[in-house]
Amino acid sequence: MADQGTAHELPPPSYDAELTEVRRGTPMGELLRRYWHPVGLVADATNTPRRVRALGEDLILFRDGTGRPGLVHARCCHRGTTLYYGKVDAKGIRCCYHGWLFDVEGHCLDQPCEPEGGRRRETVRQPWYPVQERYGLIFAYMGPPARKPILPRYECLEMMDAGEFVEPDDSSIGGGGPAIIPCNWLQHFENVVDPLHVPILHGVFSGMQFTDAMAAMPSVAFETTEFGVKVRSTRPAGNGQIFKRVTEAVLPTLRVVPNPRVAQFARVESIGWTLPIDDTSFRIYVAGRVKRTGDLGRMRSRFAGKFWGDLTEEEHRDFPGDYESQVGQGPITTHSEEHLVSSDQGIAMLRRLLRRQVRAVAEGRDPVGVSFDPNAPPVVFEASNQIQM
Ligand code: FES
Ligand SMILES: [Fe+2]
Repeated sequence: MADQGTAHELPPPSYDAELTEVRRGTPMGELLRRYWHPVGLVADATNTPRRVRALGEDLILFRDGTGRPGLVHARCCHRGTTLYYGKVDAKGIRCCYHGWLFDVEGHCLDQPCEPEGGRRRETVRQPWYPVQERYGLIFAYMGPPARKPILPRYECLEMMDAGEFVEPDDSSIGGGGPAIIPCNWLQHFENVVDPLHVPILHGVFSGMQFTDAMAAMPSVAFETTEFGVKVRSTRPAGNGQIFKRVTEAVLPTLRVVPNPRVAQFARVESIGWTLPIDDTSFRIYVAGRVKRTGDLGRMRSRFAGKFWGDLTEEEHRDFPGDYESQVGQGPITTHSEEHLVSSDQGIAMLRRLLRRQVRAVAEGRDPVGVSFDPNAPPVVFEASNQIQM
């Protein structure tokens, strides 16, 4: 009998591990490790050890007494207890169990249970990662040291308009829900190149979540660029004017999306980084130009006038947003059961671009968008909202 389309006829579901899994040694994990990722706010690095989980690795963030931030593996290299219970002092972090002291680069400075503080202490090293502070965020490089690129600067966070400054945020702006979102990071990153869900999910289905201007069905053109996928959406704006919006997904995980509330017709004012915590959760760090402290937080979506965390289960069902639609795809979406169509062109382009970079890294080349030139100019994005006659 012909295929009746019943669920019983489905082959076993599967997901694309090459594009989704992030642990050390996996194809995507090694690609992601060739870029810098934000792992905390500058204010998160203090003399109190802080748990950080990034790309499937458990880490401890701290700041030594001289002000240097450090990021080390949580598991002590002596006999494995967690440095979360360590004490931070002027020189580094000291493990609670036998007191080994490690500096921000993992050098062992003291083994108090050993004669002379450990005659061979320099032969052990606590696994560590380089960090840099910029835009109010702490960025980590978790890849091979010989391939460490510069930490890029971005024009949209370097060139201020009058009265502006850069503010960081870790509260999941644009994620639509709690700070930690329980699904694969690629489900969020792909959403950046999915402009056609905007008039449906955010325009009709859940009532108006953004603005009237955003609710019109756009005509869309997609383009693969030198470091990502660019989306140009055009909508009629009344009075014969045209509303042109450009959004960009930039490798490795950058969301370069102008304010969807279209408060201003201008160049993009913020960057969101999608940090894969592990294969089935991610979080978002944002840095943006603001005029008042807290302006980024004021951009957070409301549903029927309420914040996401204040909704009842019934209201979540009645007013689904980005969180519901992305988490609703499952912990890792089963790609074998998808049916991509013409409006998913951006998704297909982004997957192809990512897959090419995964393979470039596997073949020993550098992926797109990394620079080793300390004098490289800031990266310029086209992302913007514009009104044209
Ligand atoms: S387990 Fe850390 S010093 Fe022994
Ligand atoms: Fe959305």
